[in-house]
Amino acid sequence: MLTMAMPALRFGSRAGIFVAAMAILLVLIAFVRWFWSHYRPTERLPPGSMGWPLVGETMDFLQPHSATSRGRFMEKHIKRYGNVFKSSLFGHQTIISADPELNKFILVNENKLFQCSYPSTITGILGKWSMLVLVGEEHKRMRSIAINFMNPAKLKDFFFKDIERHVLLTLQSWKDGDVLFAQQEAKKFTFNLMAKQILTFNPEEPRTQELMKDYYTFMKGVIAAPLNIPGTAYYRALKSRSKILDTLGRIMDARSQKPEDKYNDLLEVVTKSGSLTTEQVLDLVLNMLFAGHETSSVALTLALKFLADAPAVVQQLQEEHQAIYAARSFEKERLTWEDYKKMNFTHCVINETLRLGNVVRFVHRKALKDVYFKDFFIPKGWKVLPVFCAAHLDAGVYCRPLEFDPWRWQQIQEKNVYFTPFGGGNRLCAGADLAKLEMAVFIHHLVLQFEWKIAEADRAMAFPFVEFEKGLPIQINRRCFRPMQKQQ
Ligand code: HEM
Ligand SMILES: *[C@@H]1O[C@H](CO)[C@@H](O)[C@H](O)[C@H]1NC(C)=O
Ligand SMILES: *[C@@H]1O[C@H](CO)[C@@H](O)[C@H](O)[C@H]1NC(C)=O
Repeated sequence: MLTMAMPALRFGSRAGIFVAAMAILLVLIAFVRWFWSHYRPTERLPPGSMGWPLVGETMDFLQPHSATSRGRFMEKHIKRYGNVFKSSLFGHQTIISADPELNKFILVNENKLFQCSYPSTITGILGKWSMLVLVGEEHKRMRSIAINFMNPAKLKDFFFKDIERHVLLTLQSWKDGDVLFAQQEAKKFTFNLMAKQILTFNPEEPRTQELMKDYYTFMKGVIAAPLNIPGTAYYRALKSRSKILDTLGRIMDARSQKPEDKYNDLLEVVTKSGSLTTEQVLDLVLNMLFAGHETSSVALTLALKFLADAPAVVQQLQEEHQAIYAARSFEKERLTWEDYKKMNFTHCVINETLRLGNVVRFVHRKALKDVYFKDFFIPKGWKVLPVFCAAHLDAGVYCRPLEFDPWRWQQIQEKNVYFTPFGGGNRLCAGADLAKLEMAVFIHHLVLQFEWKIAEADRAMAFPFVEFEKGLPIQINRRCFRPMQKQQ
């Protein structure tokens, strides 16, 4: 019995020793990596902790927190290490910066000292022609298309009327006494608007709803683990992506049959220029849908939340917009560009919403060279995360930073370089003016027609993308403000 069992036992133990040796080796490698990054004899590397081997501090960093706070991770680390510290995030050695000056420095030195560098999970789904992925000349080319598409003259002559029409469509569907999910309403509004501007899809068409459905399936893949196996969110996202590609291909074919039709939309601009392949056009369209509606819908929802808690601000907004309304001639029922220019206080509200709400909290960069800044050394190849919300919520920059106080913007005279809700440098958000226009026109008609209050307590959370936990349920009531009150 014993002799018969021996060989098996010997074999078993050999395999066991092998596995154990491999395990020890792996742990050793991980430890050496961790040790090296932790105790590497580098000059003036910012202080900080590299956390656990491999995962680093990623879990802590991604811990959801209130959007109007810097989050426990940032608070804890800033208190301990100061505004610039090192860490290990998403498998990379990383410098995290809450220093407004360093953040500005990073943004303006794009392509010289730093470069955009998003995690592969994000780039995998947004496509290799996504503006967040491209660098150098190719980025410049795509960016100029986006900038051109939303240039000031286009905003004034083309977007403005459409925005107002979509705002009125949204508000017309609201009934006195309704309880609505503000976030969903804002998403519908911004999505429909972008679908119109990009593809000339109108909100009442079934294909718009279809596109929205596909788009949302696609979106869920952006934040899911990139596992391309049937059943996963990522798999479904890639399926939706190819479905949208098919739809787009059909539209482009149909348009090429009738070249005399004019659309004046993004698709027409890029197909007429003829410089992009179908795949590039698809990535551009998806990215514009993504960039142009995820962010501005959140910003709008945040505004509704902050305003619901600030009746004095709503009061002043009502006065501003009633004055604009009253000054309009009877023939011109619609808003004009001159009206928009008069919305001074509304712009304070928009800035304050972006400051306190921090829709885009940080961006991803990497160091192209060894960089010395103030007392710090940032080694070449390290990732760099400029955290914008840190400055926006810093008591040293803004008095009582956690208060929603639009009036503070009437005092902020000098150019405020630390206010970067739209990033900066040659990657400054291409849609910043469009986003503000959307918010202003929405607020105009909203405060004229409705009053609203929070129906169920809710808060915006940073996941780190910002979202309301319950979608912000609000109760709306029609105001008794009637056109008859118009003077003149
Ligand atoms: C309140 C709403 C918005 C916020 C807070 C916002 C924020 C940002 C930020 C921070 C960036 C820079 C990303 C980086 O540097 O890595 C960015 C880029 C971009 N945004 Fe926005 N955005 C908003 C609305 C829009 C809208 C409405 C559009 C219109 C389609 C848009 C289009 C873009 C594009 C195309 C880029 C890429 C620019 C480039 O890489 O050159 N954004 N946005
Ligand atoms: C709005 O601001 C502009 C310039 O910033 C100023 O000329 C104008 O008088 C202001 N309008 C109101 C109504 O305060
Ligand atoms: C809002 O912030 C921008 C900077 O992004 C600034 O140029 C603008 O003057 C601010 N608006 C108001 C009303 O303070």
